[in-house]
Amino acid sequence: MSRKFRTGIVGVGFIGAVHIEQLRRLGNVEVVALTDSVDAQKKADALHVPKGYADYRQMIDQENLDCVHVCTPNSTHFEIAMYALDKGVNVLCEKPLATTPEEAEALLARAREKKLIHAMNLNCRFYPIAYQMREMVRSGEVGDIFTIHGGYHQDWLFYDTDYNWRLEPALSGDSRAFADIGSHWIDLVEFITGLHVVEVMADFETFHKTRKKPLKAVDTYSGMKLRPEDYQEVPIQTEDYAAVLFHFDNGAHCCCHITQVFAGRKNQMVLSIAGSKNSLHWDSEASNEVWIGRRDRDNGQLVKDPSILMPKTAGVVSYPGGHVEGFADTFKQNFKQIYKAIELGDATSLDFANFADGLREMRLCEKIVQSAKERRWVSVE
Ligand SMILES: NC(=O)c1ccc[n+]([C@@H]2O[C@H](COP(=O)([O-])OP(=O)(O)OC[C@H]3O[C@@H](n4cnc5c(N)ncnc54)[C@H](O)[C@@H]3O)[C@@H](O)[C@H]2O)c1
Repeated sequence: MSRKFRTGIVGVGFIGAVHIEQLRRLGNVEVVALTDSVDAQKKADALHVPKGYADYRQMIDQENLDCVHVCTPNSTHFEIAMYALDKGVNVLCEKPLATTPEEAEALLARAREKKLIHAMNLNCRFYPIAYQMREMVRSGEVGDIFTIHGGYHQDWLFYDTDYNWRLEPALSGDSRAFADIGSHWIDLVEFITGLHVVEVMADFETFHKTRKKPLKAVDTYSGMKLRPEDYQEVPIQTEDYAAVLFHFDNGAHCCCHITQVFAGRKNQMVLSIAGSKNSLHWDSEASNEVWIGRRDRDNGQLVKDPSILMPKTAGVVSYPGGHVEGFADTFKQNFKQIYKAIELGDATSLDFANFADGLREMRLCEKIVQSAKERRWVSVE
């Protein structure tokens, strides 16, 4: 029988609850405790987790954990992940890994020094069709890559009354739209193509120069029912929108637009790859299919069906064709690989993102912010 793991979740707002649900699908992981700075035991009771702590240090010191999942606002990732690593506990951190590349470097160094598994939740890698696109590129079916374009579009910050901790650089970091969702997009591009960005050129815009900050707490995606006396007008420094051009190490060109103020697009990731043999187009709002573009014969459409996907892709699929898999399933597949690595004490040959990938995202993001400020191309070492 395979080993059972004891896990603790820090931060149970929107995404922490998703982690708990998807971990339960694995069968070999027990969420023995959670930490939240607000109503910890109430949240534990609601999610049927045995114990709720107000302080992550107590949870880590008392629960003999195999892994800690860090699901709190970005500015807290560094201290929580570092504490867990120092105590010899494997860490799965939500993106972005930290708020500066220096913090991310320190986390990667500590995880390596302690020989612990260090994982990121860059879950989009595990949409079955995104994974299949990677296998198609690797098999040579797409040819040499000429261009890549697409983006990530949301509307949950569309109104100036929409408010969340992500709008505050002290909690979220110097970039908002790109760090929050652009990081998923560019990680997926590098993952699928195997190419690396060498240069960036960015254009940022903040359409709402001020927003109405509620005077009481609001959870992510919870919607708002506030009256004028419930908020104050605050200046906004981070971008609602980012358009970024990229040059890759093979000479490929790429452009993307990332926005959190696109009415009607709830959470759409689109990605087009044009190669010397054919092209691919994928849309996360129809995530179970990929369009294959050809010059000399009819175009194709491949659907998620493990019996016709490439063998490695079938390994990240839970259900037969016609049974739609989406957002939540990507967490399950990511966690499946991460706990396999914890079991083996080794992550080689697995595809989940680690702290080195998290650090890369931080460095790319820093260069993108610099490029937007200086209005010029910036190289990425
Ligand atoms: N991979 C993805 O698809 C994805 C999606 C959404 C969010 N995220 C990431 O997950 C993280 C959390 O985002 P969210 O949308 O769940 O936020 P959220 O505001 O909904 O939830 C955050 C929770 O953390 C708690 N918290 C804050 N500080 C804490 C502390 N020091 N100790 C313990 N608990 C604390 C809050 O009380 C809240 O319950 C962010 O880093 C975000 O970028 C990733």
